[in-house]
Amino acid sequence: MMSKTEQPFGVYVHWPFCRAKCPYCDFNSHVRHGGIDEARFLAAYLRELAHLASLAPGRTVTSIFFGGGTPSLMRPATVAAILEAIASHWSVEAGAEITLEANPTSVEAERFSGYRAAGVNRLSLGVQALDDQSLKALGRQHTAAEALAAFALAKRHFSRVSFDLIYAREGQTARAWGQELALALEHAADHLSLYQLTIEEGTPFAARHEAGTLHIPNGALARALYLLTQELCEAAGLPAYEVSNHARPGSESRHNLLYWRGHDYAGIGPGAHSRITVGRAKRALSAIKSPEGWLAAVEAEGHGLASEEILSAAEMADEYLLMGLRLSEGMDLARLAFVAGRALDEERIGALAREGLINRNGARLAATPKGRLVLDRLIVELAA
Ligand SMILES: C[S@@+](CC[C@H](N)C(=O)[O-])C[C@H]1O[C@@H](n2cnc3c(N)ncnc32)[C@H](O)[C@@H]1O
Ligand code: SF4
Repeated sequence: MMSKTEQPFGVYVHWPFCRAKCPYCDFNSHVRHGGIDEARFLAAYLRELAHLASLAPGRTVTSIFFGGGTPSLMRPATVAAILEAIASHWSVEAGAEITLEANPTSVEAERFSGYRAAGVNRLSLGVQALDDQSLKALGRQHTAAEALAAFALAKRHFSRVSFDLIYAREGQTARAWGQELALALEHAADHLSLYQLTIEEGTPFAARHEAGTLHIPNGALARALYLLTQELCEAAGLPAYEVSNHARPGSESRHNLLYWRGHDYAGIGPGAHSRITVGRAKRALSAIKSPEGWLAAVEAEGHGLASEEILSAAEMADEYLLMGLRLSEGMDLARLAFVAGRALDEERIGALAREGLINRNGARLAATPKGRLVLDRLIVELAA
């Protein structure tokens, strides 16, 4: 068991392959029509894991997250081997949260029992939309019925399940999103991730957006959709605990909370990031993004790390502010002052509070729902 003074510590495993590339997505995800050598990749994951364990010895792992790309394309035996290796390098807290991100096609759903047997205890399913026309427009490989069937199956195998939806899609009205979200809430278990569609540079959606052929809600309608999301989820007992994440109190994702609360994690796989504190210094590491480039580096050097830096006090403070203000619980002002070496400006806090954008509750500072809509502005003004 982790002692009370010990900090949470997470392990992130990035699987960078997908069956097809969705036109809105700029995650480090790649399609390899010829297939990949999974055994060779597994050997590289295990080597890089050993390297990261040597940089963060003696920690107790409190959560593990398989993200992507599409981790549900991994064989359950690959997941099991990585979990065993994690447990051989660190002690893993009893009941640690072990999440795997899955796509809801029927082929992947067939693997759910295998993931459960490997030790995964939480599944996060990328449903994205609940009608077939929208799924097609998003370039998804599954229908709404298939996604709901996969979710029902996930509920049978895992006591903790979540699904993702993307809203503010092309042509979506507040009425249509309200109906879709109400349906989602009927099916939801203890957690939902609801992301407003972001136009990411370099994606096919960005090209269409620039050409004026992709019309998505913006301005007042986008704000209305966000506020409707907060209202409906709160009424259903799944309030937001982060900008895009909603849970029954107590069912928040421990792994995601660890990022937003500024704790340490080791990331393995192409493009994965790590934050490892030694004494008062925080190391920020990131790996080569190209899967084959990363594989070659691990095979040659034992790790695929492309960059490593020690964060300055100001960088650590900005990162904590940026992450902490995403959370409904907000951030700890004393911790921020300790990290930054100075306290935030009281006058600026007062001015933003009078505008109804932040709330100060004793030693904590949190963005209000209205404030979370203008997070970038809050961060710039508070960090100045
Ligand atoms: C790592 S991704 C994908 C997980 C899984 N491969 C899938 O697609 O179901 C995690 C989530 O980010 C969200 N996402 C990805 N790109 C987005 C975008 N441009 N705008 C909003 N949400 C996005 C999707 O909801 C997705 O499920
Ligand atoms: S949204 Fe998921 S399935 Fe689609 S390309 Fe991105 S990571 Fe892959």
